[in-house]
Amino acid sequence: MDKFALDMGKNFVWGVATAAYQIEGAKNEDGKKDSIWDVFCQKGDAIKDGSNGDFACDAYHRLEEDLDLIANLNVNAYRFSIAWSRLIPDGIGKINLKGADYYNRLINGLLRRNITPYLTLYHWDMPYALSLKGGFLNPDFPKWFEYYASVVVELFGDRVKHFFTFNEPQCMFGLGYRDGTHAPGLKTSLKEQLSAVHNMLLAHGLAVKQIRKIPSSKVGFASCGWIPMPVSNEKGEYELVKNSFFGFADDNPLWSVSLYADPIFFGKYPDRYYTVYKDIMPEFGEDDFNIISQPVDFFAQNTYEGGYISAVKDENGNYTGELKGVSFPTGSVVTPMGWHITPECLYFAVKYLYDRYKKPVFITENGISCNDFVFSDGKVHDPMRCEYICTHLKNLERAKREGVEIAGYFHWSLLDNFEWSLGYTQRFGLVYVDYTTFKRTPKDSYYLYRDIVSNS
Ligand code: NOJ
Repeated sequence: MDKFALDMGKNFVWGVATAAYQIEGAKNEDGKKDSIWDVFCQKGDAIKDGSNGDFACDAYHRLEEDLDLIANLNVNAYRFSIAWSRLIPDGIGKINLKGADYYNRLINGLLRRNITPYLTLYHWDMPYALSLKGGFLNPDFPKWFEYYASVVVELFGDRVKHFFTFNEPQCMFGLGYRDGTHAPGLKTSLKEQLSAVHNMLLAHGLAVKQIRKIPSSKVGFASCGWIPMPVSNEKGEYELVKNSFFGFADDNPLWSVSLYADPIFFGKYPDRYYTVYKDIMPEFGEDDFNIISQPVDFFAQNTYEGGYISAVKDENGNYTGELKGVSFPTGSVVTPMGWHITPECLYFAVKYLYDRYKKPVFITENGISCNDFVFSDGKVHDPMRCEYICTHLKNLERAKREGVEIAGYFHWSLLDNFEWSLGYTQRFGLVYVDYTTFKRTPKDSYYLYRDIVSNS
């Protein structure tokens, strides 16, 4: 495949991403206490391969090696998360200085290599102690999170300027509080789900206020979603499909973007929320929406796949408003995650989000799980991931050419890692990890991404 360069503009952020529980290991080392994932993994059949994050990629003990892997990619940014229960083992109260030391070494190591840290406060691993008190369902959750954010600001704010509060609230609640397939494994009522979401939004707002104490800080949260894509180039169809992306299913609004983003960006839930959930919505405090809608600096979206949708027309050629999913052709390839490969999803994602929220857009995750293995030549050849990266990035560039402000792109992920309830059955890394020896082997895609970043 030809190497190529992209024109994403001078200040484009080229990055790579990970999350604490998925890579760190060192379960109860140096004062860290359990998170909800440590406990969830012990439940009989919660994890597909019966595994857990006790050792994960052993990143806790391989900091310098991983920092060099990031640096040699030539990226200028690294998105990582802090394990709340490593820094504050009980979630509130005492700070664990050894935990702080680890993140200091990580942050300093990045800065020494001219890589900008992008810090996610919450990538799904709530301290178990807080979950025992009800987690997101406890009205005190926003205060706990505010305290956590204040500690992070105090400890690292002299060096870290870029923050995400929460990662993918859609999955946090859709999988963790509704389906019960992710930690903490709850199946709560819709009323409770709406209350958990509201507490999370308040927590986000309070954390943003803390982060603003850092001069010139930048902050947002990372959303996600499956991207509906119009089949034709017609403007009318585009608008209808775009609107559907911002809609929600009455019986399960948790997977939508607008449930979380509208309160943050517009200071209110989508209009329909107030009628559909009239009888079960939380009681809002007077100041709630001011807190929630603290100005943020960008829209961040994790985007992996989408699907085509057509808008139905009547006999006069007018749109009826009805939308129909277009099936993928028989035999279409899906990845080991069961996801289709739809490069245009990046193009439509950033366009929709920029249209609605009018902020520069970050793609904070994008990547593919492949059946990677070490070949007899000692290398990991992953042409499908190479193709995925090229075609997706071309679509991002296309959106930029059309005027969408795109702030940056973070590939998911630096390393193969613990894919939550799917354990180690999925490999998303640019770097292959042997989970017995923890040996890292950069895949072909690592070098390809390095070249794209270097040439662009
Ligand atoms: C979303 C999550 O943020 C990340 O933790 C996960 O590994 C990837 N997407 C792939 O599923």
